Amino acid sequence: MKKNKPEVSIWHKSDFPEIKKLALQTWFNAYGSFLNRADIQNYHKTQYSDRNLKQYYEKYIGLVCKIDDKIVGYSVADAKYKDKYFHIISLYVNPEFQKQGCGKHLLQSCVNIAEKKGFKVIQLGVFIKNTKTIDWYIAQGFTFDKKEDFIIGNSKVDLLIGKASVAISKTLH
Ligand SMILES: CC(C)(COP(=O)(O)OP(=O)(O)OC[C@H]1O[C@@H](n2cnc3c(N)ncnc32)[C@H](O)[C@@H]1OP(=O)(O)O)[C@@H](O)C(=O)NCCC(=O)NCCS
Repeated sequence: MKKNKPEVSIWHKSDFPEIKKLALQTWFNAYGSFLNRADIQNYHKTQYSDRNLKQYYEKYIGLVCKIDDKIVGYSVADAKYKDKYFHIISLYVNPEFQKQGCGKHLLQSCVNIAEKKGFKVIQLGVFIKNTKTIDWYIAQGFTFDKKEDFIIGNSKVDLLIGKASVAISKTLH
């Protein structure tokens, strides 16, 4: 029976082909206005190679968001980033399924995991030109106060570092 309700669960290796596809589609959508297609494609090819995905699976906390058993979003978090931070590396929702609560569900689940592991703060990076996503994170309780350089293929982009208290889990519902 169709439920049309987003549900978040831990990822499995069998989810990788769907995650790979979803990542590329979402990156074109989110970054296409300020990064060229070849850079996005090359970055995707290296970041989401089978070898890297296997390493992410062993090292990171991956979640998938499903609607009616279809993966519509995913997140990847590093609980040992620079040995001390809970860092959300990726959090993406398929453009066709955005604005249905999937992003909030994924973020809520990441925050809950961080809280259970004893972290007080979570952090992440968003390209400065990805203004819609920055606005979304601000609406969820993040503040952005640091800038770093980030290289994608032949392009250098500014990355804004956002932070939020795990206490945002109380307002995300
Ligand atoms: C950002 C993203 C994760 C949001 O996911 P989503 O599933 O569309 O978001 P949700 O439906 O859960 O969000 C719903 C809430 O956000 C609000 N919202 C949506 N877009 C917003 C925006 N640009 N600014 C502020 N609020 C926004 C909605 O009004 C809604 O609020 P409500 O719950 O109070 O009604 C998704 O758009 C995405 O994958 N974007 C690309 C991701 C990306 O670039 N990631 C890089 C960093 S990891």
